[in-house]
Amino acid sequence: MDWGMKNRLSQVIKPETGRTVMLAVDHGYFLGPTKGLEDAEKTIEPLLPFADSLMLTRGLLRASVCACTSVPIVLRVSGGNSIVGEDLSNEGITTSIREAIRLNVAAVALSIYIGSKYEHQTLMGLSTLINEAQEYGIPVLAVTAVGKEMVRDARYLSMACRIAAELGAQVVKTYYCDDFEKVVKSCPVPVVIAGGKKIAELDALKLAHSAISRGASGVDMGRNIFQSRYPVEMIQAVRAIVHEGASVKKAAKFLPVPKKKR
Ligand code: 5RP
Repeated sequence: MDWGMKNRLSQVIKPETGRTVMLAVDHGYFLGPTKGLEDAEKTIEPLLPFADSLMLTRGLLRASVCACTSVPIVLRVSGGNSIVGEDLSNEGITTSIREAIRLNVAAVALSIYIGSKYEHQTLMGLSTLINEAQEYGIPVLAVTAVGKEMVRDARYLSMACRIAAELGAQVVKTYYCDDFEKVVKSCPVPVVIAGGKKIAELDALKLAHSAISRGASGVDMGRNIFQSRYPVEMIQAVRAIVHEGASVKKAAKFLPVPKKKR
């Protein structure tokens, strides 16, 4: 691996722990004004000191993040669909590598949809992106998006992660599932998990803890942080789990004590 690639990867996955807390705020690329991100700048700014990297589109980056930031950027470069469109898997590359370089990003991210109608298109998109990004030492994060008809189990997610890694992705993002260690063990590159839909804070911490203890290299978490009533406390709690190996109980100390327990 060349120096530039290694340097960028170490901006995303922290060499001190081999882990990462990525803050995902890219949802608007197919959801539009997602709850919690309507005024994205206001939401993102207090979370930045606790994020190892920020995952978002170029539009949101330009509009909502100060160019003075030292937080590494993971640029979402796939899209072309919407939640109300014909098929969510109908994605292509939306942002060029020249643009990624111009924006000084640490990595680029693209979704693949294994088992969907547009599987081939998204896998060829990933391959094209990797070929281009490789030229400039830019790592690619492959996101294993799951179509409505697919089951998020270890068999399916192992296949999706492994295919992404075989095509050359440097990091893979997937979902947590039962037997998650099987997904990690059969994937030769670091695996990070998405948080998924907003759940109770304690359950989201349990999810992060289960993933880390079963071999995940970190989280690329969005809604369970920025849709929480306590986003700054949540990201700190997640950080403690990811980087310090904190238990759920210890991490939960970042959260305010529920009123009835006072
Ligand atoms: C969408 C994405 C999102 O970034 C991802 O789902 C992470 O966010 P959340 O934790 O809210 O699920 O990649 O394809």
